[in-house]
Amino acid sequence: MQISPSILSADFANLESELRAIGNADWAHVDVMDNHFVPNLTIGLPVVEALVEVSPIPLDCHLMIEDPDRWAPPYAEAGAGSVTFHIEAAADPVRVSRAIRAAGARAAFALKPGTQFAPYEDLLDEVDMVLVMTVEPGFGGQSFMVDQMPKVRQIREAVRRHGGEIWVQVDGGVSAETIEQCAEAGADVFVAGSAVFGAESAAGAVDELRARVAEHGG
Ligand code: DX5
Ligand code: ZN
Repeated sequence: MQISPSILSADFANLESELRAIGNADWAHVDVMDNHFVPNLTIGLPVVEALVEVSPIPLDCHLMIEDPDRWAPPYAEAGAGSVTFHIEAAADPVRVSRAIRAAGARAAFALKPGTQFAPYEDLLDEVDMVLVMTVEPGFGGQSFMVDQMPKVRQIREAVRRHGGEIWVQVDGGVSAETIEQCAEAGADVFVAGSAVFGAESAAGAVDELRARVAEHGG
């Protein structure tokens, strides 16, 4: 199991120290939003290039952008360890995944809450992770959508049938209260923004999330 705190809830004026504060996590989740795919605008490639240089842990870039066919591979080339694009936005997901992997990063696709997994099962051949959104993408601090758990279960089953090391990530409203349900459904990578950076100690919150999953036998 792995924890990937979302720096969307961190102090944007001090990202280097915020990254150091979660040095005990497995990944730093970076939410890239273009104000087109989602109604919010965050950071883009130049900032990610700078973060790669200073982060003690690898970057897990979640691209909530249009035209990932064009814009996703450069994040892998910039040195992100994992690059996730939204399946709803990709014209040729096989090609995007291959380009991300060719640049040396893990490739993943994300599903919005209203997007079904079944039509994309064949894509498991091309990716290292599937991200299940447990809120509508766009903002931190929203309520966890428990109705996405059957989808997590379905993907875990498909991954089992498929074989190989494909991770299942959940993102949105993940906290000490909701993480066990995610683990129980079969998720193994947990993104948490407000639950980590809203806590008194970000590192303490990471440890607590880990402990909750461990207690569950994850
Ligand atoms: C939402 C982002 C999430 C967000 C999660 O669109 O993809 O990564 O930061 O924040 P919390 O954990 O506060 O729901
Ligand atoms: Zn995210």
